[in-house]
Amino acid sequence: MLRRLHPDQPESFAFTPDNQKWAEAQITKYPEGRQASAIIPLLWRAQEQEGWLSRPAIEYVADMLDLAHIRALEVASFYFMFQLQPVGSVAHIQICGTTSCMICGAEDLVGVCREKIADKAHALSADGKFSWEEVECLGSCANAPMAQIGKDYYEDLTAERLAEIIDDLAAGKVPTPGPQNGRFGAEPLKGLTSLKDFESGHYQYNASVQLANDLGDTVKRIDGTEVPLLTPWQGKGASAGRKTAAKKSAPKPAAKAKADKTGVTKQEAEAATPAKPHSKTAPAGQQADAVAEKKPRTMKAPRKSGADDLKQISGVGPKLEGVLNEMGFWHFDQIAKWGPEEIAWVDTRLKFKGRIERDDWVDQARKLAEK
Ligand code: FES
Repeated sequence: MLRRLHPDQPESFAFTPDNQKWAEAQITKYPEGRQASAIIPLLWRAQEQEGWLSRPAIEYVADMLDLAHIRALEVASFYFMFQLQPVGSVAHIQICGTTSCMICGAEDLVGVCREKIADKAHALSADGKFSWEEVECLGSCANAPMAQIGKDYYEDLTAERLAEIIDDLAAGKVPTPGPQNGRFGAEPLKGLTSLKDFESGHYQYNASVQLANDLGDTVKRIDGTEVPLLTPWQGKGASAGRKTAAKKSAPKPAAKAKADKTGVTKQEAEAATPAKPHSKTAPAGQQADAVAEKKPRTMKAPRKSGADDLKQISGVGPKLEGVLNEMGFWHFDQIAKWGPEEIAWVDTRLKFKGRIERDDWVDQARKLAEK
């Protein structure tokens, strides 16, 4: 397959202001004179922002790193993870077509993509929302057939289930990633055959799926506002000279940030602690839907009967449970009382825009409180 620049290119590219800061910070990870080593993370962030790598984006990154444009193009065209043509505005679906998946029905999945998206790989669907391609083994062979959609894996797929997932995504939902046939992980289809002691006591989702649920960034276009910028490597040993060098060569960020509203970055997981509202940098679409915030009633400690297991709420993992406890929420009946204003207050502080409503925590909590 030839990998070359797409014939239709946008006029220009610029990182959003927050992605710009993030990119400049990445450059400071590298020793003086070796800043060009940041090329892959920077190209990747450009792709996370736009969905694909245009020529202006590649050249912008090259300029930031003081590289000849051709050097950046060589990197972008070498690695298949970089998309050199526009992808679907909602999702780009990557079907594994290697042996295990092929034996277990990958061709049927490709058939679904051909039917529902476009006859040819890398072509956009009629509504521009989807694109697809066949890729080599994604390392999830025990759960074949599978597909990567955005950042996450959807495993143990059938043609019918993939069609449903595409329909859900088109409707603005993000189906839970992971095994789609009820398996927890990659255990035998009929359940554990040994080490059965470990069958009980696990959470609703395996760690990878739980993280995907907590982050909610499966198909999000990252704009950098999702989390505070963390640069622990710039502690005492950070050199001001390095920071200056990075900034000196940095093109100016875009005046206006592009954004959509489906999730957050990995950094956000690390920063999943109660935070101050950041409405000034909230994506435009989210500002339009802004609801007045009201602090819900919180508790300093759980009742004497003990805290509820908030992880029973779908979408709440161990990390989020800890954050909720830290904020003063210990019981289902506390969450069950949240109205739109309280949800907005919590949502802003958790920085998981829309997730509480999307997973319907309040209704889940009400049912769990009634048990
Ligand atoms: S063969 Fe499909 S994930 Fe390995």
